[in-house]
Amino acid sequence: MGSRRVEPPAGSAAGLPGEADDRAASCVSLLACPVCLAPLGRAGRALGCAAGHSYDLARQGHVDLLPAGHGRSGITGDTAGMVEARRRFLDAGHYQPLTRAVVRTAAECLMAAAGDEGRRPVALDAGCGDGSYLGAVARLLAAGGGQGPGPARPPCLFGLDVSRPAVRLAAGRHKETLFFRGDVNHRICMVDNSVDVLLNVFAPRNAREFGRVVRRDGTLLVVVPGPGHLAQLRGRLPLLDIPADKRDRTVADLAPEFRPAGEERVEHDLELDGDALTDLLRMTPSAWHLDDEHIADAAAMAPLRVTASFLLMVFRVGLRLRVPE
Ligand SMILES: C[S@@+](CC[C@H](N)C(=O)[O-])C[C@H]1O[C@@H](n2cnc3c(N)ncnc32)[C@H](O)[C@@H]1O
Ligand SMILES: [Zn+2]
Repeated sequence: MGSRRVEPPAGSAAGLPGEADDRAASCVSLLACPVCLAPLGRAGRALGCAAGHSYDLARQGHVDLLPAGHGRSGITGDTAGMVEARRRFLDAGHYQPLTRAVVRTAAECLMAAAGDEGRRPVALDAGCGDGSYLGAVARLLAAGGGQGPGPARPPCLFGLDVSRPAVRLAAGRHKETLFFRGDVNHRICMVDNSVDVLLNVFAPRNAREFGRVVRRDGTLLVVVPGPGHLAQLRGRLPLLDIPADKRDRTVADLAPEFRPAGEERVEHDLELDGDALTDLLRMTPSAWHLDDEHIADAAAMAPLRVTASFLLMVFRVGLRLRVPE
C-alpha cells in the first residue's frame, strides 16, 4: 500500500476522473483513508488524508487502498489471464443484454438521485473487474440517460476490486471512473452514506459495509447467475454449482441492511466459437478448478449454443435499526 506521511491534502488538481470539470466538489473526497477513515484529497501525484497518510496514484490513475499487511491474506482476486479473458468476452458483446439491463437501471437510479438539485450522483461498482459496467453507465449518462438530458453535473464513478490487474486494466480504459484496490470483505474505503447506486455483479458482497456506504435513499443492484446459467457446459465440465436457493440466500445475506425492491431475469442464448468458449471458462471463478485439458475439451465442442441466465436484483436500504452498544 505504501502509506507514508505527507503534507495534508492540497485540494484537487487536474488529471483524476471527476476532477476536471468541478475541482471544488471533487469526487475524490468521497474516498476514505484506509488507516484513519478520514476523507482523502489530492496531494500531488498521490491521494492523502488530513492526518498525512498518503497513497500514490498509479500511471493509469488508480490507487491502492488495501490496508498494510493485506498481502498476507492471500486474497488477490482475478489473475491477469482471467481479467483479459473477461475483457475480450464482454467486448465481444456476449453479455450485452445483461449489460443493457444493469446499465439502464443504474442510470435511472443515478438520474433520480441527481434530482433537481443538480447534485453529482455517485456510483460504486464493488468487484468491478475490467470496469465495463461503469464505462457503459458513463456513456449512457453522457448521452442523456436514454431519455432527455442527463444529470446536470456528471456522476462520480468509482470502481473497486482486489485484483491488481483488474484495476490497472479498468483505469487504463475508463478515464471517467476512479478505480481503487480494496477488499470488499474487509472495508470499503468510501465515506459513510456516500453512494447512490452500488453495483455488485458476480462479486463478493459485504452487507454491513454496503449498508454503511450506500445513502439512505440509495440503491443496491446485485447480479447473480440464474439456475440455468451455462447449463450446457455445466453438464460436461466441473464448473462450480449454482445453488437452487441462490436468490433467497442473497436476500438473506443482505438483510437487514437491505430489502428487495424488484428483480429482473435476463436470459438469452449464446452462439460461441472455440475462442469465446475458452475465454468464458478462463474468466469464471470455475477457472481455478479447470485445467488446460478441460479448456481444450470445451473449445473442441465449438460451435456451441449456451444459455446465459442472470438475475438482476434491486435492493433498497432497510430500516437500519441498530441495537445500542
Ligand atoms: C466474476 S468477476 C466479476 C467482475 C465484474 N463484476 C464483471 O461482472 O465483469 C469477480 C470480481 O471480483 C473480484 N473480487 C474477488 N474477491 C474480491 C474481494 N474480496 N474484494 C474485492 N473484489 C474481489 C475479482 O478480482 C473479480 O474482478
Ligand atoms: Zn488517514
